[in-house]
Amino acid sequence: MRNPTITRTQKSLRGQIWEWRGYGETIAFVPTMGALHSGHLSLVKLAKQKADRVVVSIFVNPTQFAPGEDFEAYPRTEETDVEKLASVGCDMVYIPRKGSMYNAHHATHIKVGGVAENLETDHRPTFFEGVALVVTKLLNRVAPDIAIFGEKDYQQLATIRRLVADLDMPIQIIGAPIARDEHGLALSSRNQYFDEHGLNKARKLNKIMFACAKSLSGGVPIETATQQAREALLSAGYSSIDYVSVANADSLELMKKGPIDGKVRLLIAAHCDNVRLIDNCAI
Ligand code: PAJ
Repeated sequence: MRNPTITRTQKSLRGQIWEWRGYGETIAFVPTMGALHSGHLSLVKLAKQKADRVVVSIFVNPTQFAPGEDFEAYPRTEETDVEKLASVGCDMVYIPRKGSMYNAHHATHIKVGGVAENLETDHRPTFFEGVALVVTKLLNRVAPDIAIFGEKDYQQLATIRRLVADLDMPIQIIGAPIARDEHGLALSSRNQYFDEHGLNKARKLNKIMFACAKSLSGGVPIETATQQAREALLSAGYSSIDYVSVANADSLELMKKGPIDGKVRLLIAAHCDNVRLIDNCAI
């Protein structure tokens, strides 16, 4: 196990990238907000298979949190994060200094349309603007060949694919499958907010989602199957549901009616014990 280099400035980041490039090495990048779990580490392992060098960033990005969301409370566990990254062979951890990302004069905004509309945006209207901005800045700073994002945040992955294509960034975007715990719960840094009881409730989401996907592929109409899933979530003790939606897997255009053919995705966001959970699966 070799410790990754920790870099906090653009200058040292660029210096290292230039050195690797000088040897003809390829670079894969995994952006994160830290509080790393095995879901994040699965992205790093995939990155290791795809490129000679792997850079992981840790930055809790303020612009993607709305007022009242958990920016302050978001878990910050830098030391253990670096240890975990060492165990999977990450070469460099980029931890930009607080304040070095957005200066007082910052005035540029990036708004992705199409795939970034509906779903998350209906409930977190400024979220993807914050994500698009920080990801653009990080991709510009690291200038990788490949960047890896999880399907856990399916609409985020689609948004970044659109952004990178539209802005001619010469970077291949790779989607990684969702890592789940032994009960099927999609791993998330926010799962640590749950107590035992909450965790049991949270673990019902994936069961309800997969049952809904099964109904849909068995021919149950979208309206009926999604309504059943909503009711199941409420009876499982979820306090509210942001969406249970069916969409084209590429364009994310919402589908109100069947038939379910081609690439279709079921996406869910719901609140459980004050934690907002999201999950999705193919139908
Ligand atoms: P964060 O929530 O830390 O996630 C970092 C990356 O890990 C994202 O690509 C996310 O989809 C992926 N990921 C998280 N949980 C996963 C799981 N259970 N299985 C597979 N992949 C998983 O997403 C963000 O940070 C931020 O929005 C970011 C892209 C870093 C921009 O700030």
